[in-house]
Amino acid sequence: MQQDRTTSRGGELLVRLDRASTVPMAQQLERALRELIVTGTLAEGDALPSTRRFAAELGVSRGVVVEAYDQLAAAAWTSGRHGSGTSVLARSDQRAARSPRPTVAAEPPLRCNFRPGVPDLSAFPRASWLRATKRALASLTDADLGYLDPRGLPALRAQLARYLARVRGVDVSAGDPLVVNGYAQGLVVLARVLHARGVTAVAHESPGSPEQRELLTAHGLSVTSAPVDDEGVVVDTLPASGVGAVVVTPAHQYPTGVVLSAARRRALVDWARRADAFVIEDDYDAEYRFGRAPVTAVQPHAPDRVVYAGTVSKSLAPGLRMGWLVPPAELAAECVQAKSAIDLSTPVIEQAVLAELLAAGDFDRHLRRTRLRYEVRRAALLDALASTTALEMLGQAAGLHATFALRGRRSERELIVAARQRGVGLRGLSEHHADRRGRRGLVLGYANLTPDTIRWGASMLVELLG
Ligand SMILES: Cc1ncc(COP(=O)(O)O)c(C=O)c1O
Repeated sequence: MQQDRTTSRGGELLVRLDRASTVPMAQQLERALRELIVTGTLAEGDALPSTRRFAAELGVSRGVVVEAYDQLAAAAWTSGRHGSGTSVLARSDQRAARSPRPTVAAEPPLRCNFRPGVPDLSAFPRASWLRATKRALASLTDADLGYLDPRGLPALRAQLARYLARVRGVDVSAGDPLVVNGYAQGLVVLARVLHARGVTAVAHESPGSPEQRELLTAHGLSVTSAPVDDEGVVVDTLPASGVGAVVVTPAHQYPTGVVLSAARRRALVDWARRADAFVIEDDYDAEYRFGRAPVTAVQPHAPDRVVYAGTVSKSLAPGLRMGWLVPPAELAAECVQAKSAIDLSTPVIEQAVLAELLAAGDFDRHLRRTRLRYEVRRAALLDALASTTALEMLGQAAGLHATFALRGRRSERELIVAARQRGVGLRGLSEHHADRRGRRGLVLGYANLTPDTIRWGASMLVELLG
């Protein structure tokens, strides 16, 4: 007979003993505990349960547990005696031998990581988030904590609808936004919807986000490249590609920083209408514009053809995993169904907190504060790089990163490797091209770095550029 018992001081521990076996129970218990240590389920310092409690929970005599503990202690798997003082000792030699881990060459820590796309994480509005959490918990009903409407919490959807109409001019007449776990999940939802509709190919900007390209491919779509020039995505290439949708970043092309021109916006919408195709508008960092009026979204010009997508990853924190889709009426039900099939709904407490933050004006206040901060950081970066002629800035003053083309014949890869050795993290422009062979350059994120760190990192870069 096999029996399972769970126990432990803090959490639970699953141990299997076979009463029908000829192996003595103490030996079975000792082996089972050793296995838990070897596999890391029990880590160094974890306490074993007291012999009395463990014996009762396993339905064996206390002597069985005492004997097993004695054997473990004798082999230096555990310290202490029977009872609550018994804890697991480090056995890195055995663990390493049984589950070898790949060794990674140690690299010096980065003193300045220009990784793009990360907002100032130290600016996260913890105090207002905490206050909003208290209000949210007080106002959420018991029923709200059950299985939620897959579209999201009504209070958040209503707040988002108002916010997006006010700040981005989004047309929400077809329905409030659908809440998703970040833009990445929004894209998965759309990939599934398009695939189910028989779309086999979509276009994606090149240069663009390599991660998004991979995500679309992983969800069964073949991805063709839509080139980008200094007016944004080149729409002329779309008709011949025969794609059913195009993914674009009109407000601030990622990574070049170009704003889609008015003529291209019109051409994009005309193409979508003629081809009966959809435009996926990734409005990832549109909140951040420096010294110029924000452009409105493309979606209000063709709400029947454009899926508007947004995220809090650039405004609040990527770790929140929260975003939204405003699909055309034609796709709305299919998007809800796809979201529901993935994970039923987005965590409700975070949704309620974000709704409170929007309602109280705290989100707007946070944007104003961070906008000023990022403007200073961007200026620090540009000033510090002003002395080099090896970099040519591309795009507009917006967002959380600045993009530069490398002049001359310098190798992007060698520059990245040399900077890494000096503690500066860089991301190359060429890896954003679908064929990885496009224009060489750097995509420098500055939002999560202090001006001093930016100046230091940029001075290293200037030195390397000669
Ligand atoms: C172009 C682009 N869009 C959107 C996002 C945001 O994605 P998510 O909301 O899944 O964090 C990112 C993140 O880096 C991005 O680079």
